[in-house]
Amino acid sequence: MVSHGTFQNMDKEMDIENIRKELEELVQETFTLWDHNRVGFQWRHYTWNHTLRVRAMCLKLGEREDADLSKLTIAALLHDITKRYDGSILTDGNGNRRTDEFGFWQNETLHPARENTVTRYYDAADLYGKIHSFTGACVARRLLADYGLLEDFIEDVAAIIEAHVKPVKLSPQQLAQLYEPMENQIISDADTMDANVGYVAFYRNIHIHSFSRIQRQGAFDVRDYVPSVTRWIDMKQPFADGLFTESAREIANERQERKRELARQLELESNGYFTMNRKYGLLGMIEFFVSGYEDPHMFTQLEQLKERWIPTRQAWIEDEKGSAQRDDASEALGRVENFVGLLECEIQAQL
Ligand SMILES: [Fe+2]
Ligand SMILES: [Fe+2]
Repeated sequence: MVSHGTFQNMDKEMDIENIRKELEELVQETFTLWDHNRVGFQWRHYTWNHTLRVRAMCLKLGEREDADLSKLTIAALLHDITKRYDGSILTDGNGNRRTDEFGFWQNETLHPARENTVTRYYDAADLYGKIHSFTGACVARRLLADYGLLEDFIEDVAAIIEAHVKPVKLSPQQLAQLYEPMENQIISDADTMDANVGYVAFYRNIHIHSFSRIQRQGAFDVRDYVPSVTRWIDMKQPFADGLFTESAREIANERQERKRELARQLELESNGYFTMNRKYGLLGMIEFFVSGYEDPHMFTQLEQLKERWIPTRQAWIEDEKGSAQRDDASEALGRVENFVGLLECEIQAQL
């Protein structure tokens, strides 16, 4: 993906596939250096799943907007590399979130239990207490310099990483300057979309909601959850409308519509044959997702759905020949299969 002319020294040039693979391994390894699992709306597997989805969306938007895919692919891969240092959001004496001069929320720092190149670079530059978009850019500069990449290329990648979190307290002129490069707009859009719109965000919402319910009340009730989905979708509309690029706004609004249709299906399931839908339908699928609530892994759970959960129910339906509810069960399972297909397309940024 990195073109010729990207390296300082042609002797150091190596197959870019190897660089990508090495960085992928490094990012994955880095996320495992902390022993804690859940912090706020993040959990151990989330950050890696999110990184791959953001990269796919960056490439999709980059193609549409004619941006530099070499810079985007590396920036997306590294954009949250220091995210695991972020602990709980700090608050002041009145319980309000503490912010820095740019309006970024401030977090408690979580120290890794083990070290690697990333943590050593983080320590060497004393990046503690700073926002992860800034520290990620600093670490990326060091990592990419080790590959002998050109200074300009490295600086552009670092700028993209830094832009993935939009500062709140910038003047319109400063904001326009920061987001002048198309790649900076794209990573911000891709990162925002992943957490807020589409089935990918719905999966995240299930896990945020259920974890909080289990912590506070000891159990998750899918019937209580369903009515909250429409409110949540409406709350996310400003995120879809506020994206930088035309391509992102278009995809995000399609995703919003898809979620609205999903919310209608959930209401029908909940108000209809509840017990059957809990066994064969989207309600059952949600409960299956919640069964892995401690550290849910989207890609693994999807494989389990396809390889076990759905085939098991197909076999039950086969066994229930002559049952009055067989067609309804079959339709309910069809909704789950449809959901899985659409979610897989979103993960690959095809939708
Ligand atoms: Fe981030
Ligand atoms: Fe991110």
